Amino acid sequence: MRFAYADPPYPGLSAKYYRHEDSYAGEVDHAALVASLVDGRYDGWALSTSARALRDVLPMCPPGARVCAWVKPGGAPPATYGLHNVWEPVIVVPGRWRRPGKRDALVAHPARGGGSLPGRKPLAFCAFLFDALGMLPGDELEDLFPGTGIVGRAWAELSSVAARDASPPGTGDVVEDLGDDASLAAADDGRRCGDAMGE
Ligand SMILES: C[S@@+](CC[C@H](N)C(=O)[O-])C[C@H]1O[C@@H](n2cnc3c(N)ncnc32)[C@H](O)[C@@H]1O
Repeated sequence: MRFAYADPPYPGLSAKYYRHEDSYAGEVDHAALVASLVDGRYDGWALSTSARALRDVLPMCPPGARVCAWVKPGGAPPATYGLHNVWEPVIVVPGRWRRPGKRDALVAHPARGGGSLPGRKPLAFCAFLFDALGMLPGDELEDLFPGTGIVGRAWAELSSVAARDASPPGTGDVVEDLGDDASLAAADDGRRCGDAMGE
């Protein structure tokens, strides 16, 4: 199956964070991006955005799209006023619904190593993303805004390890098309880590 992950600059903040990057090309047209995700070339896809922009981006997505939360465990700096953002939404259209069910939220610290690119993803997020999408070894992942390239590298590594450890073909427990009920049997995979780029 073919999957895509889109991790564009937050709407309205492209220049602020990325104007010095080679890949910087101004604001991303999110309507065009979502249109390319739903045009049939992918079996599943995910799109990260900001909590602030979610109200604008989600209506562009199909009704079956789910919102998962990546929560960063750091506290709000005492000098701030009112609500302080500590989470990032990722809109997910799974390619498969696999048993056991998965949590639709991750608590994980932002990446600490791997360079200095703002918004680069930690490995815990990558693993969560692949699970949320229902990916299996052999699936193809197109990382549309690669930045450091960590997401693509993580998939290459995790999928090859999983393929090595895999049960014989045909014994996997893959359930397609269970709809929302499949996600209700959430299993706590015990993954707990800590905070990321705020808005
Ligand atoms: C949130 S970062 C991606 C981080 C990546 N997922 C990682 O974990 O390293 C967004 C990336 O998109 C690039 N970018 C900025 N403006 C862009 C544009 N208009 N079109 C495509 N890419 C752009 C940025 O330079 C940056 O590398």
